[in-house]
Amino acid sequence: MLLDIANLSKRFSSGGRDVAALNDVSLTLPPGETLGLVGASGSGKSTLARILLRLTSADAGSIRFEGKDWLALSGAELRRRRAKMQMVFQDVLGAFNPRATVASVLGDPLRIHDIVPKVERPREIATLLERVGLPASYASRSIREVSGGQRQRIAIARAIATRPSLIVLDEAVSALDVSIRGKILELLVELQQERGIACLFVSHDLAVLRAVSHRIAVMEAGRLVEIASARQVIENPQSSAARALIAAVPRLVTGMPERPHHDV
Ligand SMILES: Nc1ncnc2c1ncn2[C@@H]1O[C@H](COP(=O)(O)OP(=O)(O)O)[C@@H](O)[C@H]1O
Ligand SMILES: [Mg+2]
Repeated sequence: MLLDIANLSKRFSSGGRDVAALNDVSLTLPPGETLGLVGASGSGKSTLARILLRLTSADAGSIRFEGKDWLALSGAELRRRRAKMQMVFQDVLGAFNPRATVASVLGDPLRIHDIVPKVERPREIATLLERVGLPASYASRSIREVSGGQRQRIAIARAIATRPSLIVLDEAVSALDVSIRGKILELLVELQQERGIACLFVSHDLAVLRAVSHRIAVMEAGRLVEIASARQVIENPQSSAARALIAAVPRLVTGMPERPHHDV
């Protein structure tokens, strides 16, 4: 198993309010699979993604990633292994210095994780840009000179630069226009098939997850209430949370193609 999350819990208290953001969540992800994680706003999806990426600590539970006790890693070994788990968040590059060049955004992970020798970096950056459907000449642009859709393509290029085995995407296409969104989802599926990368794809939108997921996990108030093949969850939902999410998307349950998935 590439990823094995067991009994993960996390509480937040703020303003006298105590929230169980995650309540005893367990799930596994085999190599190369896309698991969609869906749930209403506040159900704990981002908390799970952030704990996975070691941006937030867990109160209880364990995570094994590539056979290692992921939450116990620290220092140089954590930095080294982070190359294998990358992220694409909603406009993550929007948080970058707007004057940063695309070349530096893509060059940093290549340098930090020593992916290719320095002399080969410009070529590698050009290859990455072309792979995500952008001209190599974009390397010299600054982040503020590219559109939102192009920024997400660059974020994807950055995520695949370190040759990860898992990419965590949190609302990665939610801010994009529908037409651009479809193209980005196609690119993600292509890359994932071509490179065998597993994805944890977090979205509040089942129409998005329908296009990319092998399996879908449904969260409600910090708990994982359902996990099954994408088709099963959409065509034959077992939880009231899944039924409510389906009802919110018109024309979702028609001619659903199934992405072959492993039985786990
Ligand atoms: N840093 C934080 N401080 C306090 N409460 C938080 C924090 N992060 C998340 N929460 C709370 O935890 C719950 C789950 O949030 P989140 O994981 O962001 O949900 P989702 O991504 O599904 O919308 C929510 O009630 C949210 O308000
Ligand atoms: Mg969220």
